[in-house]
Amino acid sequence: MRIVLLGCPGAGKGTQSKILSERYGFPHIATGDLFRAEITAGSVLGLQVAGYLKSGTLVPDAVVVEMVAGKLQGCPDGFLLDGFPRTLEQAQALDKLLRQEGSQIDMVMHLHMREEEVVRRLTGRRSCSSCGALYNVVSHLPRVDGKCDHCGADLIQRDDDGSAIVRKRLMVYEDLTRPLVAYYRAANVFRELDGGRPVEEVTLALMAVIDGARVRS
Ligand code: AP5
Repeated sequence: MRIVLLGCPGAGKGTQSKILSERYGFPHIATGDLFRAEITAGSVLGLQVAGYLKSGTLVPDAVVVEMVAGKLQGCPDGFLLDGFPRTLEQAQALDKLLRQEGSQIDMVMHLHMREEEVVRRLTGRRSCSSCGALYNVVSHLPRVDGKCDHCGADLIQRDDDGSAIVRKRLMVYEDLTRPLVAYYRAANVFRELDGGRPVEEVTLALMAVIDGARVRS
């Protein structure tokens, strides 16, 4: 299946994508994670995009689309996109790439959330500096303070998770990404889910949508 997980910063896209890709074997393509890996590696792309991530603004469409196009080539049987597309231009570019190989998006699942809950989640987020596992100082503490349950590496806070940058990212989402809801609704591949419920409940709701679509296809 070719799935897009849509939602504002902190809606739980990364958390749910990791669970779903493990369960169904979908390749998980998370543009934010890919950019952060490039920044950590000090690559040319990393240097090019670092300022955008730090300030909470979007990387230019052409740069993102080129990176994603390369990743999609390795996923002929489907994928789970997390954080892409984020603008109408990116959505149209994705449609074009898929059309060229005779396929299309099967399902767009939108996790909707209240702004105040998003700010609380993101300022409390911690992630593993080595394996990327996600934690939260409010809702999901590690067993040992500051250490990853899976690999023992240090937990870190993202540079863009301070409350001022989080609010900036939410404004960017409203301006540039929210229009995708109407775009995908019109294409008849859109499902809306409540991202504010506990992680396990959101996972079950997403799985019900995916399993339903798999039965129909
Ligand atoms: P990106 O990394 O994609 O960030 P984002 O979209 O802002 O999303 P987040 O990773 O902040 O949130 P999430 O929805 O994944 O939530 P999570 O599961 O972690 O992008 C970062 C930057 O990269 C962008 O600002 C931009 O500069 C650039 N970029 C990336 N893609 C781009 C694109 N396509 N075009 C242009 N630029 C791009 O959960 C958050 C916290 O909440 C965690 O602590 C988690 O444990 C907790 N949590 C999750 N679910 C629940 C729940 N149900 N209940 C309680 N707590 C929960």
